[in-house]
Amino acid sequence: MWVTAHPLVRRPATLHDYVVTFLPQHPSKGTERERPSLAVARSARVLAAAGIEAPRAEAEQLTAYVLDVPRGRLALADGLTPDQRDRLDALVARRAAREPLQHLTGFAGFRHLELAVGPGVFVPRPETELLAGWGVEQGRRLGSPLVVDLCSGSGAIALAVAQELPGARVVAVERSPEALAWLRRNVADRAAAGDTPVEVVAADVTDPELLADLVGRVDVLLCNPPYVPRSVVVPPEVAGYDPDEAVFGGADGLDVIRPVVARAAELLRPGGVLGVEHDDTHGTAVPALLAGDGRYERVEEHRDLVGRSRFATASRRADGRHVEPDPAWQTGSS
Ligand SMILES: C[S@@+](CC[C@H](N)C(=O)[O-])C[C@H]1O[C@@H](n2cnc3c(N)ncnc32)[C@H](O)[C@@H]1O
Repeated sequence: MWVTAHPLVRRPATLHDYVVTFLPQHPSKGTERERPSLAVARSARVLAAAGIEAPRAEAEQLTAYVLDVPRGRLALADGLTPDQRDRLDALVARRAAREPLQHLTGFAGFRHLELAVGPGVFVPRPETELLAGWGVEQGRRLGSPLVVDLCSGSGAIALAVAQELPGARVVAVERSPEALAWLRRNVADRAAAGDTPVEVVAADVTDPELLADLVGRVDVLLCNPPYVPRSVVVPPEVAGYDPDEAVFGGADGLDVIRPVVARAAELLRPGGVLGVEHDDTHGTAVPALLAGDGRYERVEEHRDLVGRSRFATASRRADGRHVEPDPAWQTGSS
């Protein structure tokens, strides 16, 4: 037998090599390591049986979390120790009971960020990355824009803009004390990491006096409000863990969007832009609200990659005028 003493040098094996090679590393069977691929397959089966939509992806994320390696390095990672196996099994059981993955790991990925999340704050969703990206594009044209994020939650949109547009002044508004605690923590973490600090304002976005000092000055106003109509039955991860006030927007889902559309028209400078995420059933209703306000132009509806209506945008009329509503939106054509 030949052994590799150095990656590039081979020599004949000695008794010492056999001893090292063949003595078991772990004296008893119960202490053997489990290959990551086996742990992933085992976990994915449990998650699939529980009805989790992407069981393999989530099994990989949980296994990588337990091993403390990036998901892309799983194949190269050491096997799981018995303790790590136990931890993984416990996490998989909680996920199978529909606790959100992000509550288990303590963070949510959003664009280029990892945000701390947990009880009391809405877990940012991948679809909101579209609205944040649109806001970044709008702001980039201006160099050092004033950007406002209403209903900020964990700070996902505000912090993404602050990271991607270092010259921007970003103001994040949130009402819930629990969410504000997470928001302030994420803002502090990102500032410590070198991003432009986001300004946090504790306020109700439906207040007609909201951000009175910014009236007529905002370049980009973004908002992902609670917008699910009250009667909609949401998945267990949402019902049990996202705060109600982050999810439901009253009987028709528009309770927060209506006052936001009205106040945004006062906060935006002429030519400033607004982007509002909404329920996928509101692809006509929200553009109609914007067109019906009379102070916006260039009203547009935006869809995601699978064609679902996701967010609406508009510009504050450059001439500052208040005009009659555009009838096209009121007839429901979008
Ligand atoms: C759908 S979550 C969005 C959170 C974050 N912007 C995101 O995209 O992940 C809505 C947020 O709005 C907050 N909210 C609800 N009603 C509000 C109000 N009237 N004023 C201020 N914040 C409000 C909730 O607490 C929640 O954090």
